[in-house]
Amino acid sequence: MKQKIASRAAQIETVIKQFLPKEEGYEKVIYEAMNYTMLAGGKRIRPMLMEETYRLFGGQAKVIEPFMAAIEMIHTYSLIHDDLPALDNDDYRRGRKTAHIVFGEDMAILAGDALLNYAFEVASRTLIEYPDVPGLGRAIYILARKPGVSGMIGGQVVDVKLTGKPVKEDELLYIYRCKTGALIEAAMMIGALLAGASEEQVELMEQVARDVGLAFQIQDDVLDITSDSVTLGKPVGSDEKNQKYTYATIHGVEAARKEVSRLTQEAVDLLGKLPCENPFLRELLIYMINRES
Ligand code: IPE
Ligand code: IPE
Ligand code: MG
Ligand code: MG
Ligand code: MG
Repeated sequence: MKQKIASRAAQIETVIKQFLPKEEGYEKVIYEAMNYTMLAGGKRIRPMLMEETYRLFGGQAKVIEPFMAAIEMIHTYSLIHDDLPALDNDDYRRGRKTAHIVFGEDMAILAGDALLNYAFEVASRTLIEYPDVPGLGRAIYILARKPGVSGMIGGQVVDVKLTGKPVKEDELLYIYRCKTGALIEAAMMIGALLAGASEEQVELMEQVARDVGLAFQIQDDVLDITSDSVTLGKPVGSDEKNQKYTYATIHGVEAARKEVSRLTQEAVDLLGKLPCENPFLRELLIYMINRES
């Protein structure tokens, strides 16, 4: 399965590359900073979940590709900003020095801004290039809303504001659902929507993705404690350094691992309610329970 996922990630890499900006002009340095983090080799989980959900509902067209690139651009911008000295102040990401170390804090902030805007340039161009595909407007709306203040950014705000303070369970779940869950929800909802899934099916995928997102963040917290920086490609112990209360520090690593399994099983059971299936998507979710990076 590890091999299969790696080969899917390599295919996604090729898709993403087609949508990256050329490094030229007076503003060349900003394109270099954008591409530097985009091409540093992330796991590409969000575009993968998007594409596999698209396939689950029978989608086969190329219109999904710009959305796969766009969600990865938004995710990458969130990482560049998350690593800034004002936030988590981390020096490594995806096995490389972070953008603010290499290009300076000013260019890292601008590269994050630029990736966010570029994502919408790429996604909204589908309205011109695929005028006959239904659901594009709604897909772009989801792409705007889920990473926004009521989603990912809202989660980051509460995460930052509660740093160093004991966090209540409902606050912690809010943070996880938003800072990490929201993008995964967007990925799977857009995949379903563009493949022509019904309203109820898109909602079901939102629920599936919510569980997947929570499990993903809890596993991220576990790895921050149990892994090493070479395997992760980012520092371990970042949460402790920043005095973050996480699911794993509050409940312990064992209980956290159990919760990752429980949430994933719930997601897989929900998927089982659908009249269609995608065995790779199911296997991917199960594989992610024990992911090492
Ligand atoms: C890291 O996301 C940030 C979280 C939401 C936990 P990933 O673990 O997907 O990072 P990359 O894309 O593989 O670098
Ligand atoms: C960040 O959560 C989620 C984002 C929106 C970037 P973390 O701060 O735990 O992510 P890592 O561990 O730095 O990747
Ligand atoms: Mg953070
Ligand atoms: Mg961080
Ligand atoms: Mg983390």
